[in-house]
Amino acid sequence: MTPTTPRLPIILDCDPGHDDAIAMVVAARHTNLLGITSVAGNAPLESTTQNAIVVRDLLGIDVAVHAGAHRPLIAPPRHAGYVHGESGLDGADLPTPSGPPASHDAIGFIIDTVRSNDGVWLVPTGPLTNIALALRSAPDIAGRIAGISFMGGGLFGNSTATAEFNIWADPEAAAIVLSYGGPLVMSGLDLTHQFQATRERIDEVRGMPGRLALVLADLLEFFSGTYTSRHDDLRGAPVHDPCAVMALTHPDLFTRSFSNVTVETGGEITRGMTVIDQRTLIERPAPNCDRLTAVDADAAWAVVTEAIAHFSH
Ligand code: RIB
Ligand code: CA
Repeated sequence: MTPTTPRLPIILDCDPGHDDAIAMVVAARHTNLLGITSVAGNAPLESTTQNAIVVRDLLGIDVAVHAGAHRPLIAPPRHAGYVHGESGLDGADLPTPSGPPASHDAIGFIIDTVRSNDGVWLVPTGPLTNIALALRSAPDIAGRIAGISFMGGGLFGNSTATAEFNIWADPEAAAIVLSYGGPLVMSGLDLTHQFQATRERIDEVRGMPGRLALVLADLLEFFSGTYTSRHDDLRGAPVHDPCAVMALTHPDLFTRSFSNVTVETGGEITRGMTVIDQRTLIERPAPNCDRLTAVDADAAWAVVTEAIAHFSH
């Protein structure tokens, strides 16, 4: 699938994270990837930063990784070792990182990059802490960015019955992002669960040449194992994060609904829930979010495998 948009300038803000790694491959292939910023989420910041560097190295791309927030704005730090392993990227023989992050000031990098480049998309695929801090530190960037395409939330949860991990980990940050006033594209769980790393899809990657494909196949194998061992309806891990990238690079693969989306920050049982208003009121709350509702999963997987092949020399 050739992209249907020009190479958009983006910053990938991530918490690798198996699916974050796939998002980085697609972003490197199809966007003008201005930088990668890491955030605590699936694993502590030191791990997600190291993992982002390792995946960047495997891609052989000259893109800086900047470390960001080591904890949420208010919520206590919580990770997802039960899904991604203690390292955040368990399951593969990974190379040693080529070096440290370019800086420990992801927030400053985001602000400076947005101020010096027109039309930048912010693509967060972890908790929204870095994005919220950047918006709070430099309110002017809200009017400069092209938008925010994020993986998070949805019509159901995973960390709890109602809250998806990226939002649940930092609901206050999500509230800042959802109310920033500019374009929002949301890849929630009801979408990403349609895009699973099935056995056939993993085998397709494993059959590709080169170390990158081998590492990614092993990572997907591990990732899918943790999901299929915990869920009775999944044929593989939902590959959440590349959806937030392909929403921009391959928009025709998705259907969407312009919705009003807010986040519960006070609830005891529902804290971190994205509240998606689906009422058919004539006078309804103003939509703020381009919410993806369906994906052509086979075509999207072809985008992923072509991107992997592109970097597999
Ligand atoms: O709930 C799924 C999200 O949480 C994905 O971004 C995954 O990488 C984890 O960060
Ligand atoms: Ca992630």
